[in-house]
Amino acid sequence: IFGPNDEQNVEGSEKGKQGVSPEDWDKVKLDDEVPEAVKEPRRMTHSRHTSRADAAVPRTPTIPETPEPSSSSHTVAKEQKVTPFDVEGEVDAEGKDLGIDYDKLTKRFGATLISQELLDRFERLTGEKPHPLLRRGTFYSHRDFNMILDRYEKGQPFYLYTGRGPSSDSMHMGHLIPFMFTAYLQRVFNVPLVIQVTDDEKYLLERDIKKQAELMKKIKGKKPLDLLRHYKKMGQDNIRDIIACGFIPEKTFIFSDLANVGGAFYENVVLMAKTVTQSQSRNVFGFTDSDNIGMFHFAAVQATPSFSNSFPQIFGTRDDIPALIPCAIDQDPYFLLTRDAADKLHYKKPALLHSKFLPALQGAGTKMSASKENTAIFMTDDAKKIAKKIKSHAFSGGGASQELHKQFGGNPDVDIAYQYLGFFEESDEKMEKLAKEYRAGTLSTSEMKAACIEKLQEVVAEFQKNRAEVTDEKLAYFQNSTRKIDPRPKPKEEA
Ligand code: TRP
Repeated sequence: IFGPNDEQNVEGSEKGKQGVSPEDWDKVKLDDEVPEAVKEPRRMTHSRHTSRADAAVPRTPTIPETPEPSSSSHTVAKEQKVTPFDVEGEVDAEGKDLGIDYDKLTKRFGATLISQELLDRFERLTGEKPHPLLRRGTFYSHRDFNMILDRYEKGQPFYLYTGRGPSSDSMHMGHLIPFMFTAYLQRVFNVPLVIQVTDDEKYLLERDIKKQAELMKKIKGKKPLDLLRHYKKMGQDNIRDIIACGFIPEKTFIFSDLANVGGAFYENVVLMAKTVTQSQSRNVFGFTDSDNIGMFHFAAVQATPSFSNSFPQIFGTRDDIPALIPCAIDQDPYFLLTRDAADKLHYKKPALLHSKFLPALQGAGTKMSASKENTAIFMTDDAKKIAKKIKSHAFSGGGASQELHKQFGGNPDVDIAYQYLGFFEESDEKMEKLAKEYRAGTLSTSEMKAACIEKLQEVVAEFQKNRAEVTDEKLAYFQNSTRKIDPRPKPKEEA
């Protein structure tokens, strides 16, 4: 049993071993504010043990309070909670789910909303119109995107980094849209891209024991290793889908953690791991004492692709080339820690582009689920199925009846067909025209749905064509860790 003196001893011995002593930790400030929403640890079940453990580890750096934005028009009884593992919207006094307040989230995470000015600068420098997902606000928040544009302007190198946790073998549109967006960015910037497939994460983070047992039964496995291998295999299936999103093959490296972590990459994992304390992890991810240590450690693995010297086949030993990370906003906590660590490790901080969550067919505030057929368009759905799903499941912002719709019009802002169309439709004029006529009641719900169906069928058909061309050879090519990739930025004409 530890007494007060023992605690002191533990702290004293920590001091000698750690690069930064516990005292200094209090002085260390995170560059980015740690969000209020993820600051509060989940309620601890063993509070006595927790407080003792807290005394033994370096304290979390003090984090400035973020003022509440006064813009909220509604009263919130329960605050939203967003971590990589849990996403819960705000709840009002009556218990009604108010969904996610994205502006608030961005403020709390200490990130910045993407402004029209920033989009204009992007267009001016690249000569490309911002992707519909960017210009219509699905990617809506960022960190240091301006820094990346500065580098682009000066011809200095940078690269793209994104990833996927393989949790199901059938990928839906919600999974693949971020990759399609990343493929667009890669074409525009003409830079290297690394894609991390976190088969390790998904094995470690499955906290639902019942679900794991069911999965074990399904794969006829006996040992934990069988389950781990199952995640690894799903990762390989997912990589085929990812490849079909259309990256520049010579400039893209896709890797599974389980197959790849070692060498220079693992050196950075270790450096990164040492910069994050247990209590920081608890604060940022909401971990508790009963979570396995692999989950704590995994944060270092997801951080590591942000550092260029993790990929010697691309960047050699250069550690001064920053990454741009497109990701959903719930992944931000990983990169908050990464950006904090980058300073300590004398590396470059990654920049980020954050997206909102893509709504399920059932409407705003609902989530596409790989296990619920009718919540999403799957990339394996044929044209007929897409049409049927949109017709019978897409939440409509139209009037309650045809008569009422004609009389009062509909609301495109909550209309799923209009939203989904907006992810891909290039023409702003077309989108505006549809919205205007919908509001006026001259465009019917079924006409809106028809426009959406046509577009989705086109996108999915192209994907399926690409997917059919992903041979075993291609699969191996993208994952070849010894294949050299030229990191130098080249003007478009030369490329
Ligand atoms: N953790 C992510 C997931 O569960 C996968 C991931 C790894 C990722 N690295 C990333 C996502 C970088 C976005 C950007 O899906």
